[in-house]
Amino acid sequence: MGIFKNRWVVEKGKPLTEMDKKILAAQKQGHKVPTRKLIKTEEQIEGIRRSGVINTGILDMITAEIKEGMTTWDLDELIGQYTADHGAISACMGYEGYPRYSCISIDDVVCHGIPDKKSILRPGMIVNVDVSTILDGYFSDASRMFIIGETTEEKQRLVDVAKECLMVGMQAAKPYSYVGDIGFAVQCHAQKNGYSVVRELCGHGVGLEFHEEPEVTHYGRPKTGMLLVPGMVFTIEPMINMGTMHVHFSQVDGWTVTTLDHQPSAQWEHTFVMRETGLEILTH
Ligand code: MF3
Ligand code: CO
Repeated sequence: MGIFKNRWVVEKGKPLTEMDKKILAAQKQGHKVPTRKLIKTEEQIEGIRRSGVINTGILDMITAEIKEGMTTWDLDELIGQYTADHGAISACMGYEGYPRYSCISIDDVVCHGIPDKKSILRPGMIVNVDVSTILDGYFSDASRMFIIGETTEEKQRLVDVAKECLMVGMQAAKPYSYVGDIGFAVQCHAQKNGYSVVRELCGHGVGLEFHEEPEVTHYGRPKTGMLLVPGMVFTIEPMINMGTMHVHFSQVDGWTVTTLDHQPSAQWEHTFVMRETGLEILTH
């Protein structure tokens, strides 16, 4: 047991709640449990939901506007404008020095593609647009895939299966299940379809900060990783590769992640809150 292990602290002088009991039981069995800060209040969840409404508005706007011939810079400018028009801030801009409002990742770019004036959208490309918004201090995060014109059957299937991977991950995330249950479900679905799961990047807690605990890996074993407690807000965002799971981190721009074999990659992402009844999407 290391010093980095969270310990659930019960509230002094108050009787144990059902939640306390379940968390303490899991902790006793050696499971990783959240800190209190990771259990959002209703007020915080409403704040994250309002942030999510703008984030979804951005992706809906992009869905209407995206077309062949545009550059990723053009899309990013639209995102910056929409964000400002709605009184929000991009969580990406300036994050650890990141220079743009969004991440736009084409074909073999797994994630963190930096919008630029030279990347022109061409027929057949598969494009991930990843948007993260701060509103009144609350963070939301989601991404979608777009297909420019018509693509090959292979790339279409990759995009579809990546979306299914997000859905099976969502379904596996039950109250008082574990992060590893999500990862296991995603990994099984990807591999069953002949694809691989990126391991170096994962989903994450979100809401009061851009990236919080837990790390939501998209591979793993059932009943491992952090306990998923009602009130936790986190993303699921599997990056699914057609070929090798191995990726390359650009040493040139410090951000762009590509597949090592340059085969295409696809990703869908939502922000969720865990409820007593199951997952609720905050970026619909
Ligand atoms: N939006 C990404 C995620 O899903 C994080 C991007 S960090 C940035 O977690 F700086 F590149 F924007
Ligand atoms: Co994210």
